[in-house]
Amino acid sequence: MAEQIQNLINGHWKPAASGDTLSSVNPADVGDVVATAPSSSARDVDEAVAAACAAWPSWRAIPAPKRGEILFSAAERLAREKESLSRIVTREMGKVLAEARGDVQEAIDMTYYMAGEGRRLSGETVPSELPNKDAKSVRVPRGVCAQITPWNFPVAIPSWKIAPALIAGNTVVLKPSAFTPLCATRFVQILHEAGLPRGVLNLVHGHGEEVGEALVSHAGVAVVSFTGSSAVGERIESLCGRFHRPVCTETGGKNPLIVMDDADLDLAIEGALWGGFGTSGQRCTAASRVIVHHTVYDAFTARFVEAAKKLRLGPGLDSATDVGPVINAAQKQKVLNYIEIGKKEGAKLLCGGRAATDGKLAQGHFIAPTIFGDVAPTMRIAQEEIFGPVVSVISARDLTHAIEIANGVAYGLSAAIYSRDVNKTAVAERDLDTGIVYINASTIGAEIQLPFGGTKKTGLGPREAGGRGGALDLYTKWKVIYRDYSGKLQKAQIDP
Ligand code: UN1
Repeated sequence: MAEQIQNLINGHWKPAASGDTLSSVNPADVGDVVATAPSSSARDVDEAVAAACAAWPSWRAIPAPKRGEILFSAAERLAREKESLSRIVTREMGKVLAEARGDVQEAIDMTYYMAGEGRRLSGETVPSELPNKDAKSVRVPRGVCAQITPWNFPVAIPSWKIAPALIAGNTVVLKPSAFTPLCATRFVQILHEAGLPRGVLNLVHGHGEEVGEALVSHAGVAVVSFTGSSAVGERIESLCGRFHRPVCTETGGKNPLIVMDDADLDLAIEGALWGGFGTSGQRCTAASRVIVHHTVYDAFTARFVEAAKKLRLGPGLDSATDVGPVINAAQKQKVLNYIEIGKKEGAKLLCGGRAATDGKLAQGHFIAPTIFGDVAPTMRIAQEEIFGPVVSVISARDLTHAIEIANGVAYGLSAAIYSRDVNKTAVAERDLDTGIVYINASTIGAEIQLPFGGTKKTGLGPREAGGRGGALDLYTKWKVIYRDYSGKLQKAQIDP
C-alpha cells in the first residue's frame, strides 16, 4: 500500500498548493509504489520560507542547551523507531537492511552529537592589547537554511544538515530527493514530534528543477546546503555566488583504494568488495578505483573477481542478499552505458557487465557487480563518477605512481591504502589529496564526529558533520565583540 505523505509547513501537514503529486517506487520491485508525495512548486517554497523566517527570532532566542534537549529527545525517538525506519529505507531506496540500519544509526549518532553541541558552540576569548578591555568571538545563527538532500542516504544526510542547523539556532526548509520522500518524511516527523516549535523545520517535497531551484534562489534564504550530483552542485554554487549566499556542496567522488605489494590481500579484498559494491556502489565514498601494485596485481585481481562473483544480488529485505538494486531505471541505464564505454575504451570486463534479470530480479533495477581490469587511469570509467556497482582495477608501478593515479582525477573525497609498511602509509596519508584517508580500511564508513567532505570538484564550502571545520562553520557566522570598560577613549594600534 502506498502511503500518502505531505509537506510540513509551519507545523501543518499539507498537500502541494497545486495538488500535484509524485510517487516513489521500490527499486527492488517496481510494482510496489511506496509513497505518494506532493509535487510542490514555488508557491509552497514561498510559504515554507515565510514560516521559517517567522519562526527564527524565537527559536534563536531559546538557549542552545534547551534546543539540544529537543534534539536529544528526537535522537531517543529515532533510536526507538530504528527498525521501522530502516525497513522504510530499504523499501524505498533499495539498500540491504543491515546498511539501512547503518543509515538510520548515522542519523541517531548525528542527532545526539549535535544535541551535545548545544552545551559547547564555543568561540574564543583572547586578551586585548589595551587595559580594561576584553575581546571574544561568538557563533551566531545565520537564519533560514535551504537544504537539498539525495536518495542514497535518505535519513543520514538530512540529519547531517538539519541537526547542526537547528542546534545553532537556525530554521530549516528541507527539500529531499523525489525518490525517497517517505524516508525524509518519517525523519522530519520524528524531529517535529520531539517538540520543535512550528515553522522551525519545514519539509517541501518535489523535483529539483522546480522546488530546489526556487528554494536556493529565494530571497528569504540565508544559507544553502546541497548533496547530490556535480552538475546540480555547480548550478547551485553559481546561483549562491550570484546572491552572495554561503553554500556547502557535497558532490562527486572517484575514490581510490590502493593495494601495495606488502598488503594483507584478504583484508584488501574484503575492503574493495565492501567499498565497491556496498550500497551497490551508490555512495559518494565508493571505492570505484582499485589501484594495485603490479607485483600483486594478478593475485589480487583473480581473487577479487572470484569473491565478487559470489555476491548475491537481491531485494534488500531478503537476509541472503549482499547487493541490492540501483535506485531507478535512469540510473541503471547510466551505469550500463558506462559499462559499454569501458568495453569500447579497451578495459577488460572481468565479471558482471549486465543487468541481472533472472527470476524475481526482473521486477527491479539490478546490475551484477562489475569489475574491469587493465584499466588505464585516463579512461572515462576511471575518471567519471558512475555511482553504481562498477569497479576499475588499475596497475601501478610503485607507491609514487599509485598516489599519482589516485590524485589524477577531478574529485577528492575519500581514499584508502592497504599496506603493512608504516612508512608507506605515512607517505600516502600525507600525499593523497582527499578529504578523508583510510589506512588498512575501505573508503566508506566515515564517522559523524569528524568533518565529512573533500577537495577539488567534490565540493565547496565548509565540510559537513562534526568536529573542527564541520557543519557548524556553515550554520553559524562569527561575531567578534570588544568591550571597553575603561570609561575613556582607548585607541588600538595607535602609538601613545
Ligand atoms: C554519501 O555517500 O553520500 O562514509 C555519504 C560513508 C557514509 C556516508 C556516505 N558514512 O560512506
